[in-house]
Parts: sequence; C-alpha cells; structure tokens
Amino acid sequence: MTQETLNDQRMETSAAPSAESGWGWGRWVAIALGFIVAIAVGFIAYHQVQVSDPYIQSVLALEGDVDRGQDIFRLNCATCHGLEASGEVGPSLQGVSERKSRVQLIQQVVSGGTPPMPQFQPNARDMADLLEFLETL
Ligand code: HEC
Repeated sequence: MTQETLNDQRMETSAAPSAESGWGWGRWVAIALGFIVAIAVGFIAYHQVQVSDPYIQSVLALEGDVDRGQDIFRLNCATCHGLEASGEVGPSLQGVSERKSRVQLIQQVVSGGTPPMPQFQPNARDMADLLEFLETL
C-alpha cells in the first residue's frame, strides 16, 4: 500500500461518521423547534381565550369610576389588604398594576388565585370600577 491510498482510506472512514452525526443534529434541532412552536402556539391560544372571555371583554370595554371602585374595595377587600391597600392578611397592593396586567387583575378577583383569597363575582360595572381603583395604587 502506498502512502496515498492510506490517506484515501483515512479520509473515507473519518468522513462517514461526521455525515451521520450531522443528520442526527438536524433531527434534534427539528424536534426542539417543533416543541418551541407547539409551546408558543399554546401560549398564544391560551392568551386569546383569556382576552376573548366575554366577561373580561365587557369589563375592559367599560370606563371605571375610581371613587366607586374605592368604596367597593373598602367593603370587600380592605379586611385583608388593608384600608390603604398596604397589606394585612393579604399582600400589599401598592403598585400592583405594574406587576399584573388588567386581565390578570380581573382574573385574580374572580378566581381568587390561591386561598385564602376568596372568589368574587362582581358584575362588569363593579369590576371595571374596582379595576380603575386598583390601577391608582
Ligand atoms: C380573605 C382575605 C382576602 C380578601 C377578602 C381579598 N383578598 Fe386579595 N389576596 C389575599 C391573599 C392571601 C392574597 C395572596 C395570595 C394569592 O395570590 O392568592 C391576595 C392576593 C391579591 C392580589 C394579587 C397581589 C399580587 O401582588 O399579585 C390582588 C390583585 C388582590 N388580592 C386583590 C383583591 C381584591 C381587589 C379584593 C376585593 C375584591 C381582594 N383581593 C380581597 C386575601 C384576600
């Protein structure tokens, strides 16, 4: 065997596995992309469902009255969150609208999040007023 044929053989054997692993990478990338797309589509769909919820829609369509919202807050929420919303049993709600979107705030009130926060069922008008007040905190 000459030196040249040995080199040829080396080239062949080293080229074969790298071609195979190239294909393997492609498959993993495709699977990973598939997952990312599936998760993204899931998030978007979930968000759309929330925003298109008729109750949330009707609350967001109304313009809230801050003073009425404050009354509603004092009657229903102040026992736990404090008269000035600075926290008692429940956490302080100061600046809460910077942490939570309008949709999230509505959901917190109607779903109660985790106990002991109760679930409220305010009509859209009351919820809009309350939301307006929460956004002043
Ligand atoms: C029985 C006590 C209680 C009452 C009444 C109550 N809450 Fe709460 N609330 C809590 C507790 C405890 C938490 C924290 C646990 C959680 O996230 O569910 C909380 C959390 C929250 C949060 C989320 C705060 C954050 O930093 O993310 C918001 C907003 C909120 N409440 C608003 C209200 C509003 C508005 C009302 C009146 C309609 C109300 N709560 C009535 C106990 C209460």
